[in-house]
Amino acid sequence: MTRKVLLLPGDGIGPEITAQAARLLDACRKAGLDIEIEEAPVGGAAYDAHGEPLPAATLEKAKTADALLLGAVGGPKWDALEDRAKRPEQGLLGLRKHLGLFGNLRPALLYPQLAGASSLKPDLVSGLDIMIVRELTGGIYFGQPRGIEERGGERVGYNTYVYSESEIERIGRVAFEMAQKRGGKLCSVDKANVLEATMLWREVMERLAPEYPDVALSHMYVDNAAMQLVRAPKQFDVVVTGNMFGDILSDAAAMLTGSIGMLPSASLNASGRGMFEPCHGSAPDIAGKDMANPLAMMLSVAMMLRYSLDENALAERIEKAVGQVLDDGLRTADLADDSSQAVGTRAMGDAVLEAFIRQTP
Ligand code: NAD
Ligand code: IPM
Ligand code: MN
Repeated sequence: MTRKVLLLPGDGIGPEITAQAARLLDACRKAGLDIEIEEAPVGGAAYDAHGEPLPAATLEKAKTADALLLGAVGGPKWDALEDRAKRPEQGLLGLRKHLGLFGNLRPALLYPQLAGASSLKPDLVSGLDIMIVRELTGGIYFGQPRGIEERGGERVGYNTYVYSESEIERIGRVAFEMAQKRGGKLCSVDKANVLEATMLWREVMERLAPEYPDVALSHMYVDNAAMQLVRAPKQFDVVVTGNMFGDILSDAAAMLTGSIGMLPSASLNASGRGMFEPCHGSAPDIAGKDMANPLAMMLSVAMMLRYSLDENALAERIEKAVGQVLDDGLRTADLADDSSQAVGTRAMGDAVLEAFIRQTP
């Protein structure tokens, strides 16, 4: 059966890295993968063309696709938009919410060739392999009430940090199951010493634990977790946390692997359908300069093949191709010791594609 993949390039470096991912998908198709590829506007690009960051036609296509691949959204051009609903980021948040993509997997995996590019000493990160499981459709990102309003002669801004037991339980199960398949360790990160929503979070994680006797559950406050992540990151196997803490911790974890340009992600719903995207943003400072690292995006294609299309062999081929290119010494500017030796987005894409094609399945 032909499966539909929807490309959502977005803004800034989004289209540049999506182009590299599209070439890889094309190579997968030539290698026998039965897919049909479509493209739709999202984010600032969609706002400029249609007045909405998530046009109805894009959402419709997203709902019928078997998997979505998103570049990045946002940028200074749209930061001054006063109507929050029109901001590019709402396109991304809307897709997550409408498609029920509550389970966000962010693997911070160090390619051994990049130990020297990490912000930590090589011995602290060699062998690093952390899976951050971030809740993606709840918490303070979506809680009501929210807003900015006049109170007592000045304006106040407010948001609500809210999680229901069922929301905590379903992300908890994703994380426990992930820990079962990996090293058997799960660290739940919260702020249960201060915030009621995360006291409940901790309670629900504890309640689930007896159902997973092969998983060792621990808890950590988020401030300590941030510190531990840069002190001794290899203590972590699977980390489960709420929407905002997961956003912050995963950017920090990315840097341990050499660059934010190395971290892919999968956002899955209850039926395993998903959207795949790099963890980084639209990088306005380097957009249009052929400087962006496309590897997080290309590794997101691998996650798509693994998690939504059930094509493990192709996923492994992509990951191996990335390893080979790094073995050959190719580095984009974010990874290079000497930026004069760095290759561009397109050249990195070429190299991964060649290494992918060279491999015999
Ligand atoms: P960012 O991740 O875009 O950039 C942070 C820094 O990392 C910049 O110096 C950038 O050049 C660098 N960087 C990011 N990706 C890179 C890559 N692939 N290769 C090389 N360097 C890379 O974060 P920001 O500057 O805080 O945000 C910029 C815009 O992106 C904002 O509008 C923000 O809302 C948006 N954003 C979108 C997403 C998304 O679409 N998933 C994620 C984060 C931020
Ligand atoms: C991410 C981004 C998004 C988030 C923004 C752009 C809405 O930072 O995917 O990590 O905060 O989730
Ligand atoms: Mn983020």
